[in-house]
Amino acid sequence: MSGWSPHGQKPGSSRGLFVTFEGIEGSGKTTQSKLLAEALAARNMPVVLIREPGATPMGETVRALLLDPKVAICPKAETLLFLAARAQNVAERIRPALEEGTTVICDRFADSTLAYQGYARCGDISTIRVLNDYSTGGLWPDLTILLDLDPGTGLSRQQNRNRMEDEPLSFHERVRFGYLHEARSEPERFAVLDAGEKAEELHRRILGLVLARLAEPRARS
Ligand code: TYD
Repeated sequence: MSGWSPHGQKPGSSRGLFVTFEGIEGSGKTTQSKLLAEALAARNMPVVLIREPGATPMGETVRALLLDPKVAICPKAETLLFLAARAQNVAERIRPALEEGTTVICDRFADSTLAYQGYARCGDISTIRVLNDYSTGGLWPDLTILLDLDPGTGLSRQQNRNRMEDEPLSFHERVRFGYLHEARSEPERFAVLDAGEKAEELHRRILGLVLARLAEPRARS
């Protein structure tokens, strides 16, 4: 599938589109990111779908540690572990795929660290921004789809409990506030969608947004 280009350019002459999904627990990111990846693949467009934390052997090991509520992890260590997994993900998966012109869809990325470890855990937002930049080498998504949902509804949809889902409702309200605050400050990058809409309708909108972005020229990073 590699080599598809919206402008008939030679394979690799345009970098791939980097799309991230963000939102509170139960907002439907995983479902929507899969539907998007399937829809692009069905159009013969090169695409990879990855999740954070995870995506690499190192990231999956860190994920197991991070999400285990039985392991004590202080807020700073938690932040650094998410960032370490991201640095590996960017180096091993995301940059190489973008370089070869593949669309990368990531289920959570740097905005999760701002929302959870920054706004919700009351970490230092400006330090987290600097550390995010350090871990990604300055790579930011071209498009971030924020699936916005009331935290009470989101948490009631969740089956499994991890370290974050064990947090009180007020924590998840701060996560949502953080996301919306970030989205307002970067309206070009963020698309805020109502996660309460029907999954098929949401998918239709998301696909429309992504196809429009794919039709725009992108400089190589
Ligand atoms: P996961 O089970 O993948 O939840 P979800 O399906 O909602 O993404 O667990 C990921 C958890 O990690 C989720 O609670 C959000 C949290 N998280 C952070 O706190 N900071 C981060 O930087 C990232 C990437 C995730």
